[in-house]
Amino acid sequence: MTKEIISVTVKACKIDVLTAKTDLLAVGVFSDSGKPSKLCAAIDEKLEGAIGKVRELGDLKGKVKSSTVLYSYGKLGAERVLLVGLGEKKKVTADIIRKAAGLAASKAVSLKAGTAVLCLHHDIGRKIDPARLGQAITEGVYYGSYRYDEFVTEDEDGRLKSLEVRIADTEAKRVAGLGRGVSVGSIIGKAQAFGRTVANRPGNIVNPAAIADIAMKTARKTANLSCTVMDEKQLKAKKMGGILAVGGGSASKPRLIVLKYSPAGKKKAKATIGLVGKAVTFDSGGISIKPSSGMDEMKLDKSGGIAVLAAMQAIAELKPAVCVYGIIPAAENLPSGTSYRPGDIITTYSGKTVEVQNTDAEGRMILCDGLAYAVEQKCETIVDIATLTGSCKVALGQYKAALMGNDAGLIKQLQTAAAESGEKVWHMPSGEEYLEEMKSKIADLKNVGSRWGGACTGAAFLGQFTGEAKWAHVDMASVDIFTAGKGTGGVGATGFGVRLLARFVVNAAKKK
Ligand code: BES
Ligand code: MN
Ligand code: ZN
Repeated sequence: MTKEIISVTVKACKIDVLTAKTDLLAVGVFSDSGKPSKLCAAIDEKLEGAIGKVRELGDLKGKVKSSTVLYSYGKLGAERVLLVGLGEKKKVTADIIRKAAGLAASKAVSLKAGTAVLCLHHDIGRKIDPARLGQAITEGVYYGSYRYDEFVTEDEDGRLKSLEVRIADTEAKRVAGLGRGVSVGSIIGKAQAFGRTVANRPGNIVNPAAIADIAMKTARKTANLSCTVMDEKQLKAKKMGGILAVGGGSASKPRLIVLKYSPAGKKKAKATIGLVGKAVTFDSGGISIKPSSGMDEMKLDKSGGIAVLAAMQAIAELKPAVCVYGIIPAAENLPSGTSYRPGDIITTYSGKTVEVQNTDAEGRMILCDGLAYAVEQKCETIVDIATLTGSCKVALGQYKAALMGNDAGLIKQLQTAAAESGEKVWHMPSGEEYLEEMKSKIADLKNVGSRWGGACTGAAFLGQFTGEAKWAHVDMASVDIFTAGKGTGGVGATGFGVRLLARFVVNAAKKK
């Protein structure tokens, strides 16, 4: 592509924040008044009371998502001090710290500050395990510094090309733990940024074959990760009717991309997990075409598949003791003389037949083949992720993805991974009654239900292709589309799901 995204490095160290040479010194501040932390007080003293003044003026309230820049005029080693709001001291969580680090990194990028020190003074995150804290901060830094500008040719010189972040602790003993978290956080943060870039590339740049190429390259450069791709001919030979139907209308033919991670050497895999992600590189709706307003957003309809791709990269680097399949059905949904049509009856890979009532319900048509493939690979646990339904967005708003499934334990594991990764999910119903709406009179299933509960009927449909596996479905249509940068300056894909899936798999490998 035209240019590389910003290169970010993070490390944890014990440094003297008063004298450290840096472009930006970020310091967390709480919203509850009271005694400022020792570190804040020391910085304030060097700045001759500037921080106190700003507080007195009412310009510094310490609320989450807020920040204030002060200039040090040579009174500190740092050029600038960024005061980042953390909210109430006793309510601080790893996720609040992740977001605060993201805000600091975002400000560093917009101020073109190439080096930054993020201070962890004594009062911050005491109750959080240092490794968790280091990971959260690092993930936040990668998230907040991300910009998608590979096709912007102007301002080439003015753009920040690299950001070096040091997480500074005043206590040496916390530094080691933080450092361990930084390593994990860097793997996940880089994978998420990579995923965001692939997701952000529009339909004329990224089609199913392009995703397959990217997946191949990823596997080639990553140890313990392999990739196989089925092209249209192979999909036909395998009778993957769902993927072929959806991809049939486009000149860019569909693919089924299968990544596989297996732990190296003697590490024994405890289980086999399948991650299945919807990658519709552009969803026009097909013959049941969508209204034109906002249709451009449907370039992000590949986000679930890309989350799986990027998570697989992170998983292979984190080396958990489980086998993981990353299964990505990829297709472009366009209207043409070769498109599938409303009324068509499709025989899917599982052998089940589906009556197509709306070609815009295409996600489930490709996922059902991906899920059946995961079952065939003997995955005992399957998690799929997709921008599946507009109804999901209506139900939940922009901040959480919907979570459905057939196993309470698996739902719980995903809820835990969500809480830890800061990528939120909300458990929604599915099952029997919803499935009833998906039955067809002329085939086994139809691809749309009634007007109501579209996210739940969509999940019920998918649940028919998961065999005996424990299965969960994440409908991320609510979170991923263009809402990304809120508060962090970036626009476009959020990379939602990368942290969630990576965390889920790592936790599953630790489970007895
Ligand atoms: N990709 C869309 C879902 C979507 C909508 C994602 C808005 C993000 C934002 C999906 O393929 C779709 O079109 N779903 C239909 C299903 C319906 C026809 C049963 C929908 O939600 O309208
Ligand atoms: Mn659609
Ligand atoms: Zn779609």
